[in-house]
Amino acid sequence: MTPETQFNRRREDFPTLASGIHLLSHSLGPVPRATRASMQAYYEAWEHHTSEDAWATSWWEMSAAVGDRIGAILGGDAGSVQVQPNASVALSSVLSCFDFTSTKRNKIVAGALDFPSMRYLLDAQTPIGARVETVPSDDRISIPTERIVEAIDDATALVALSHVSFRSSCRVEVEPIVEKARRHGALVLLDTYQSAGAMELKAREWQVDFLIGGTIKWLCGGPACGYLYVRPDLQRSLQPRLTGWVAHAAPFDFATPPMRYDNSVRRFAQGTPSIPALYSVLPGLQIVDEIGVPTIRAESERRTEWMIEFAVEHGWKVNSPREVNRRGGSVMIYVDDGPGMVTRLTERKVFVDCRPGVGLRMSPHFFNTDEEVKEAMEVLAELINQALR
Ligand SMILES: Cc1ncc(COP(=O)(O)O)c(C=O)c1O
Repeated sequence: MTPETQFNRRREDFPTLASGIHLLSHSLGPVPRATRASMQAYYEAWEHHTSEDAWATSWWEMSAAVGDRIGAILGGDAGSVQVQPNASVALSSVLSCFDFTSTKRNKIVAGALDFPSMRYLLDAQTPIGARVETVPSDDRISIPTERIVEAIDDATALVALSHVSFRSSCRVEVEPIVEKARRHGALVLLDTYQSAGAMELKAREWQVDFLIGGTIKWLCGGPACGYLYVRPDLQRSLQPRLTGWVAHAAPFDFATPPMRYDNSVRRFAQGTPSIPALYSVLPGLQIVDEIGVPTIRAESERRTEWMIEFAVEHGWKVNSPREVNRRGGSVMIYVDDGPGMVTRLTERKVFVDCRPGVGLRMSPHFFNTDEEVKEAMEVLAELINQALR
């Protein structure tokens, strides 16, 4: 492994790290110690709020403030992110802006490596006129960019893809996709759940239309918030049918219909925001921000390169792209009995998971030391050798 970068890995801020080697950032990031005080602050605010002022003051603004913090990590401007209950609802909100029935522009371009929620929700649009074209992957690891670009045409309403796949950690090239979509009048949505907090995102520069994701994984925010980024100059032209009183221009007027959407990104909200979720995500966002996504990515590249070299030297099948520029922050290594191997690794205090047809998913994050990454791979080598005997 190339020499270690010197920076504060903030290990003391994550009590869970004392339990073993945590390589699960693609699934469940460890809780920051400061989250305990943040959740306590939520309780205290609730205890002391005795009127609707709670909404008018801290809680209402907090939703927008958390949206802006997430927006900064996505490379977007203030006012571009609305917090959502989860990524699936964020995608539903976007899909509810389209009318697939009344137009010849009814095609959705999707990818074969996307998270199941995305596929279920896109398919659910077909009874209301959408056609879903899924761009295949020959090796179940990556999809050639040219294939995605070729699928975009004048009938395309939306291109909806994982930025980084949960199955293989394959990363799509954003610029050519957005460029082709622009030329044909289509919009582009990326699921950045597996990339936000693990690598630099450039929402503004890419001119991408929508980003969706959530906080449980690389952002160390717990199973709390989803998010929806909408390109600022697109926001006002959209009227999500998945809506509610919080999306209204004057929610506290409790006005009779018709709905009058707010002019801000709040037009993509629905009902009462989950306030405890907002308190639980802040410490993780703060730490990711303080460490800096460029440092996180540089560390990730250095370690995942070494892990892949190690795997190849041992003759293992790597189910992630070899080229660092086509990869997110995880390394997938095929093993015959994924669940059994996860159990044996857990017994040795190495925490990873597995997915059917993929094998192990292993994700070093900023808080892991080089020694931990090396130890995890050596334990895996020992267990694979034992299984072969
Ligand atoms: C890439 C990706 N998208 C979406 C999801 C699910 O998001 P949610 O549960 O917030 O709908 C996951 C969760 O594992 C994921 O990895």
